[in-house]
Amino acid sequence: MSQENSEDHTWRESSASCTDSHICIKDLTKVFKRDDVETVVLEGFSLDVKKGELITLVGPSGSGKTTILRLIAGLIQPTSGGVLMDGELRTSPGADRGMVFQDFALFPWRSVRKNVEFGLEIAGVPKEERRARAEKYIKLAGLEKFIDARVHELSGGMKQRVGIARALVGHPDVILMDEPFGALDAQTRNIMQVQLLNILDKTDQTIIFVTHSVDEAVFLSDRIVVLTKRPAKIKEVIEIPWPRPRDRATPEFTALRKRILTELEEENVMEN
Ligand SMILES: Nc1ncnc2c1ncn2[C@@H]1O[C@H](COP(=O)(O)OP(=O)(O)O)[C@@H](O)[C@H]1O
Ligand SMILES: [Mg+2]
Repeated sequence: MSQENSEDHTWRESSASCTDSHICIKDLTKVFKRDDVETVVLEGFSLDVKKGELITLVGPSGSGKTTILRLIAGLIQPTSGGVLMDGELRTSPGADRGMVFQDFALFPWRSVRKNVEFGLEIAGVPKEERRARAEKYIKLAGLEKFIDARVHELSGGMKQRVGIARALVGHPDVILMDEPFGALDAQTRNIMQVQLLNILDKTDQTIIFVTHSVDEAVFLSDRIVVLTKRPAKIKEVIEIPWPRPRDRATPEFTALRKRILTELEEENVMEN
């Protein structure tokens, strides 16, 4: 048996524990090869995500966070290991996983409505249903007054609310958000965090959220996964049972933020 096959075999056996979890990221290894140089970005990365959970990945820049999201989305293939949703292996993109990107990735010259409807159109959802669903999520995102505006006319925060509505309208099992508020100014970013929580309150959507901001992670998350530098390993998993909306001024909030920042600094120091 070749080495690759034996790795595959090990993974299949260990994936048995995945049958009960909503999203099971199991023993993911990803090696990028460029000009004969191999970069090991992930090495046996595993994580369980529960239904309805907002889980955040924080880690040093270049640790492999975007790679993890792209693997879950099925946009790239793992070197070994895999991602299971409700016990079934996912190897290509699908409507069960929606994405929200930092740079919005919208059609600037199309209307808000057309942007939100786009995925449904591709999926062949009939026009009436498409319209009704798009209107529901545009309203949920607080954009009903702008439904016929072209996206390029909107502010950054509004663009990202279109991105969120577009992800929600497909009724995905999980939304993958890669630094979705990273391009926004600090004040808009804080407003967006509150609005995201309001929207989630009404949908019970599972979210895997990547952010550079420890403050954002503590404000939003049910669980924070702190990653090491590349290849990303789990340094710590922190459950946050506090009710929302959370007050950034409390001693617990400040203490937790400091603790995570210290952990990340340790990783950056190790790199130098
Ligand atoms: N397609 C690719 N080819 C080669 N290297 C890549 C590719 N994509 C990402 N990488 C490398 O993988 C590492 C992790 O990248 P990424 O997942 O984007 O990190 P993060 O999102 O945590 O900043 C980086 O060193 C990056 O240069
Ligand atoms: Mg990234």
